[in-house]
Amino acid sequence: MQKKDTSLSGFLPSFQHFATQAIHVGQEPEQWTSQAVVPPISLSTTFKQGAPDKHSGFVYSRSGNPTRNCLEKAVAALDGAKYSLAFSSGLAATMTITHLLKAGDQIICMDDVYGGTNRYFRQVASKFGLKVSFVDCSKIKLLEAAITPETKLVWIETPTNPVLKMIDIEACAHTVRKHGDIILVVDNTFMSAYFQRPLSLGADICMYSATKYMNGHSDVVMGLVSVNSEDLHNKLRFLQNSIGAVPSPLDCYLCNRGLKTLQVRMDKHFENGMAVAKFLESNPWVAKVIYPGLPSHPQHELAKRQCTGCPGMITFYIKGTLQHAETFLKNLKIFTLAESLGGYESLAELPAIMTHASVPKDDRDALGISDTLIRLSVGLEDAKDLVEDLDQALKAAHPPSTSDN
Ligand SMILES: Cc1ncc(COP(=O)(O)O)c(C=O)c1O
Repeated sequence: MQKKDTSLSGFLPSFQHFATQAIHVGQEPEQWTSQAVVPPISLSTTFKQGAPDKHSGFVYSRSGNPTRNCLEKAVAALDGAKYSLAFSSGLAATMTITHLLKAGDQIICMDDVYGGTNRYFRQVASKFGLKVSFVDCSKIKLLEAAITPETKLVWIETPTNPVLKMIDIEACAHTVRKHGDIILVVDNTFMSAYFQRPLSLGADICMYSATKYMNGHSDVVMGLVSVNSEDLHNKLRFLQNSIGAVPSPLDCYLCNRGLKTLQVRMDKHFENGMAVAKFLESNPWVAKVIYPGLPSHPQHELAKRQCTGCPGMITFYIKGTLQHAETFLKNLKIFTLAESLGGYESLAELPAIMTHASVPKDDRDALGISDTLIRLSVGLEDAKDLVEDLDQALKAAHPPSTSDN
């Protein structure tokens, strides 16, 4: 992993050449007869062959598409990977990876993952004979204890959503390696390729919901997967074509365009995230702020060791009750009350009632997802405006007459 020392924050230095790779790898004008500088959106579903089975490398758009090819090459470079594959959603990528297994195999999944991943493993994959165990992989001893001869896949997400727990990828990789042929997958959606490179920390597969930061404009649903192993790549390429959950050329074009500004966007998300987190930490109506970029985060040191920065995801507990949380959210003017994350626009949501409503209440309680926990996706607006917006909404939730809460 080549690094450039640009860090001012105690985090790892940024990856060298990242911005140049994001803009140029896979985008060479010479690949098009037109010499187009911006990759065209290649809509054709089929490609002319010179003679039967003598073709340009593209035969049928599900098995390979020129616009998708540009995107996949760029993503591989950004992940420091040999190969990357694009899918029609993050969950389509999850499903395709899961098809590497067979009935009777066991999946160990971090107990606190994206609700849709949990639902897919619990309610869909389990119907096809896969055994799924949910384990707190931030405690390496628990991961070690859960591994059996049937374990074939370990799935982690770091930081977790919405309580932003960090998991030590290197330690998980070390543990998994001791037990032979187990595939370690890291869902890197929250950090993006710019802040965290799971493959260089020992993971076998780095996966994204590109719907979030990688595309960054809240206008594409997509999944991405990067690997270094040729064997895994061949198997996943076969599954990508055989299952067919591929993204459209237009979505590939948009995501590829989004990558061009990934570095500048993530730097700004980090800057705005820090400003918002520090403001919240100093506000009397906030009970607790969780942000890995703050020294108060219990795994701040791990974050600095593992990442080159932090995205705009902040979780905080507002003082009071559900009613205070709802009043706060209703009064926001710049933050939009909406699910999802990682776009240029700031969003706020109440996980207990929105993104995590399907998680049973007991599990929510165990994970700390209470009615007063609010999740922010801090966007790219002016940080002062964002802080002012949060300030006025906190005051609206706690007018002087209720200030004894
Ligand atoms: C961390 C994480 N992984 C995976 C997914 C699933 O991705 P998609 O919505 O693109 O299918 C999401 C979606 O919110 C997510 O937040």
